[in-house]
Amino acid sequence: MSKPDSSFHVLSWPKTLAGEGHEAASRQHAASFRPAPHLAADQVHVWTLKDYPADIAACASLLSREELDRASRFRFPHLFDRFVADHGRLRLLLGAYLETDPRSLVFAVNAFGKPRLEKPHCHLRFNMSHSLAVTMVAVCLDAEIGIDVEAVRPVTEWVSIASSHFSAIENEALAALPEEESIPAFFRCWTRKESFIKAKGTGLSLPLHSFSVSTAPGAPPALLHCDWDTHEGPRWSLSHLEPEPGYVGSLALERKGWSTLYFAWPESEVTL
Ligand SMILES: CC(C)(COP(=O)(O)OP(=O)(O)OC[C@H]1O[C@@H](n2cnc3c(N)ncnc32)[C@H](O)[C@@H]1OP(=O)(O)O)[C@@H](O)C(=O)NCCC(=O)NCCS
Repeated sequence: MSKPDSSFHVLSWPKTLAGEGHEAASRQHAASFRPAPHLAADQVHVWTLKDYPADIAACASLLSREELDRASRFRFPHLFDRFVADHGRLRLLLGAYLETDPRSLVFAVNAFGKPRLEKPHCHLRFNMSHSLAVTMVAVCLDAEIGIDVEAVRPVTEWVSIASSHFSAIENEALAALPEEESIPAFFRCWTRKESFIKAKGTGLSLPLHSFSVSTAPGAPPALLHCDWDTHEGPRWSLSHLEPEPGYVGSLALERKGWSTLYFAWPESEVTL
């Protein structure tokens, strides 16, 4: 994987935002906000977000009424904080790419809940995934994109999950592996499938066993086949992600011939 671009490490947090009026907050943003790295038409930028920002109130001040309502449905404070931090940072990132006030962004969701920017003629596409301490955001221009990250953990029932949700090809590939490679391969398969359905935006309405991804160690990430269209597989690119030790992920893009740049927030190295 390429090294993260050291020219853009940190989006400064507008620390004094909390409690200030809208106008003052805008001025604070203008003063402290760095521009996003240039996103070329053939690039995907993958961001790894770690550690909650200390100032959750500043993040909350960026969110819409609807986002705050969603956040308030979490019963546990750490889940509220996590939601607010992730959605606040998502707004900051997207606002930086669009060179606009992050609070002015309007999101819409499709019938299956996939969010997109509603701004007319907006070419920026994004997708977000969270697992324990890691959140990832992928952005690109004018292509369907999906990202999934999972903490690799013991799953005692992985065989029954795989046999109910994975395709015959995937189950055969998993069964052929030595036991110690089963769990990493299970999560590789899971995240590749999930990133694909997230890019498609269809949620679980797309049967998970109706398409197959590569899973074997060392096999290039790929969409091997789709029941509904033999031409679908070759249109897609999948990438393997390891944003942190103990985490695995996948990026799916309906496009070929693109490059990926990796960024970390806050400043840190990402090793994939
Ligand atoms: C909702 C779903 C899209 C992803 O769920 P998930 O893996 O639990 O969650 P992730 O953290 O990766 O992604 C959630 C984010 O994806 C985005 N999202 C929501 N619905 C989406 C959809 N239909 N398509 C793409 N992205 C979606 C949102 O930004 C969401 O973040 P938010 O909840 O903070 O707003 C859906 O695929 C799902 O319910 N999956 C269930 C998991 C499963 O059974 N997987 C089987 C793997 S083989």
